[in-house]
Amino acid sequence: MTAAALTHAVPDYEGKLYAATQTMDEARHVEVFERYVRKLGRIYPMAPGLKALIDATLPADHWVKIAIGMNMVVEGLALGAFHNMRRQTNCRLLRSVVELVLRDESRHVAFGNVYVGHEIASMHADDREDVAQFAFETIRSMMGMTGGPGGRGPRLRDPAFVQALEDAGIDAHDFALGMKEALEQGIRPDQEPDAIHAYRDLMMPALVRVGAVTPRTRELYEKEEIPVYEDAGVLESLEDRDTDEIARA
Ligand SMILES: [Fe+2]
Repeated sequence: MTAAALTHAVPDYEGKLYAATQTMDEARHVEVFERYVRKLGRIYPMAPGLKALIDATLPADHWVKIAIGMNMVVEGLALGAFHNMRRQTNCRLLRSVVELVLRDESRHVAFGNVYVGHEIASMHADDREDVAQFAFETIRSMMGMTGGPGGRGPRLRDPAFVQALEDAGIDAHDFALGMKEALEQGIRPDQEPDAIHAYRDLMMPALVRVGAVTPRTRELYEKEEIPVYEDAGVLESLEDRDTDEIARA
């Protein structure tokens, strides 16, 4: 639905052609994941924060906002999750599905990165601030969903996460207390060394690179203690790698 909204909203022919192909890609992804999920014992509900993010993006009043919400934020999350899933899963079917989906996803994220940058650069300053404000609010609501900059907070407002804990025999209340104690003692959950952190490595550097973070909103991020990461190293290496993979495919 969001990709279809983008097809309507982008002003030019090439953009519409691109967004139409993305709409088709997403329909294919929905179909394949729907079929995969049906094979699993349990289907978890969508995280409310993710739904809120998509609901805020869908009716946005400028195509750049839709592209930021969908192609940069939601798909940045997806790209990070898929890369990590591909590495971690021991299900061959899931791995091959994810590999195929990833080829499409990196194209979708690339669209946001290339197209949005041009548009923001040519915008009136007031419009640029409006877009930067939208980006900030989107990121802030995403933070509420993942429980903070490191995604390390107890995500106990997410019924699916609570359900997953229960399924694993872990009491949600105990879990929250344990996380809080660990944080107070300065213990941070370890990430595998080559795991991709969607917010730190993909989303924030991409938003900075396209000009969707202005000096004014930088102060808002600071006030909310949301770190603004600018190092696009991981993003760029993925872009190169994904481009190579697409070329080989
Ligand atoms: Fe996508």
